[in-house]
Amino acid sequence: MEPSFWITRWQDGRIGFHEGHVNRLLERYAPRLHGRERVLVPLCGKAEDMAHLASLGHQVVGVDLAEEAAVAFFAEHAMQPTRTAHGPFVSFAAPGVTILVGDFFALTPELLGPVDAFFDRAALIALPPPMRARYVAHLRTLLPPSALGLLVVLEYDQAVMDGPPFAVLEPEVRAHWQGATVTSLEEETAHAARLAELGAPAKNRVYEVAT
Ligand SMILES: C[S@@+](CC[C@H](N)C(=O)[O-])C[C@H]1O[C@@H](n2cnc3c(N)ncnc32)[C@H](O)[C@@H]1O
Repeated sequence: MEPSFWITRWQDGRIGFHEGHVNRLLERYAPRLHGRERVLVPLCGKAEDMAHLASLGHQVVGVDLAEEAAVAFFAEHAMQPTRTAHGPFVSFAAPGVTILVGDFFALTPELLGPVDAFFDRAALIALPPPMRARYVAHLRTLLPPSALGLLVVLEYDQAVMDGPPFAVLEPEVRAHWQGATVTSLEEETAHAARLAELGAPAKNRVYEVAT
């Protein structure tokens, strides 16, 4: 997926991936991140999940290519962010939540600053297979040795539909996170409109990842 694919989707308002509410699996498992100070949310969009994590006392750093996502997130939460240049990124910062607008793959530990947790919903599954390996490898360069993350993926038969969202099954997750402790916490039926039309069953699964 080229950056232009996502930028165009935001410009055209084709953001069916946006849940519009806190992800239910995050709601259930966010207490596992208790005590973690700064949470990275890669490919964050304008997810309500960031506001939820901030409400639990975390400092949240989201990263997204689309300035529209950052502008909409803060407008929808009646926050007036400070907008500054930050290396190749534009930083939108308000108390509790900072969104870095730019390419996740350009993010360095220096630009990001210390984080001790991450939350991935619809980031890994937004990417085609070769990019997924690159994405996780890059994410791992940004995390300290003892980080904790929650990862929400979608599981379905990839033969019935092209992504995004892509199906990411457990062996792949474990391969990406080799050396980390990966625990499958829960699976639930996913309500994905396109998959329902195709009559294809789908599940969301949440993992805890301890690096
Ligand atoms: C499927 S959406 C998920 C957004 C969000 N996590 C959510 O749950 O609503 C994927 C997002 O990743 C962003 N994105 C894709 N590639 C990116 C990249 N290389 N760097 C930063 N953001 C990217 C897109 O703009 C889009 O907002």
